[in-house]
Amino acid sequence: MPSSPSDLVPELESFISGSLLGKGILACSGGQDSTLLAVLCARSVKDKVLVVFVDTGLMRKNESKRVEELFKKFNVNYRIVNSSELFLSRLRGVTDPEEKRKIIGKTFIDVFESIAKESGAEYLLQGTIAPDWIESGGSRREVIKSHHNVGGLPEKMNLRLVEPLRDLYKDDIRELSAHLGLDTGVQPYPGPGLAVRILGEVTEEKVRLLQEITELTEEAVRKEYPDPEKRPWQYFAVLLPVRTTGVHGDKRSYGYTVALRFFDTFDAMSGSFTKPSMDFLERLSTSITNHNPSVNRVVYDITNKPPGTIEWE
Ligand code: XMP
Repeated sequence: MPSSPSDLVPELESFISGSLLGKGILACSGGQDSTLLAVLCARSVKDKVLVVFVDTGLMRKNESKRVEELFKKFNVNYRIVNSSELFLSRLRGVTDPEEKRKIIGKTFIDVFESIAKESGAEYLLQGTIAPDWIESGGSRREVIKSHHNVGGLPEKMNLRLVEPLRDLYKDDIRELSAHLGLDTGVQPYPGPGLAVRILGEVTEEKVRLLQEITELTEEAVRKEYPDPEKRPWQYFAVLLPVRTTGVHGDKRSYGYTVALRFFDTFDAMSGSFTKPSMDFLERLSTSITNHNPSVNRVVYDITNKPPGTIEWE
């Protein structure tokens, strides 16, 4: 990894313009990696790359709006496609985590291929970074999760793949984003979205519930740690398929369990669970169960990576 962001930005920009002999299309999830790439494309090759944000229906609340504002601010050539129904219908009845990831990856590609055909794109740009392909079985390693931006790519894809960020790590991405004026307070968010945080079958009802809990959790963390530098590296809620007995008001309930995962790491390859104050956890737990009567239990994940991955699926 060479030098400072001010050297690296022009290097990446010339890599992008040198790689694209025709039009390109970029899948932007709104996460740090693909957003950085969208901005680099806007700066280097302008409208030659169409940036597509697919609303999978598995996003956080208001994600599309946030992403669209950002695209406008950085003069990105973009299109927002709402494919929520397609994703949710293909995920119906599927409980296996690998299967879910593969379906989401394939659906992404299906959506892109049709848009790419319309747009005349010959290249598919992706914000894959080093931990993505290392953990997906690159370099002869065991497949940990067929995930990230690699899983589900059909071999006979009609588009040529360009991955300008493939040798970078998360901390590089953060530095580059800060250098370009992108919001680095945005925590990493997995491509398959809430689907990997809803264990078991993904339904619309569960997505809506987890969207509420996610918003509440993120707001609480931002309030508890006003300085973005002091926040956990990643912080989110997971909806478990485990129902337990509880009491809501004066009635017995049989409700969902939510796991909170706050995590600190340097590069997402290994790391440890955050140790927030018990007071904070108590407040958050109470707020989650008060605002969401279908949840009656909140647990905190105290597993490091390894052995646990950051996400639960
Ligand atoms: P794991 O769960 O493998 O996650 O320890 C490491 C980091 O990667 C994020 N993650 C993903 N990012 N597409 C992405 O772009 C994905 O499919 C994906 N799965 C996990 C995860 O949130 C963590 O930051």
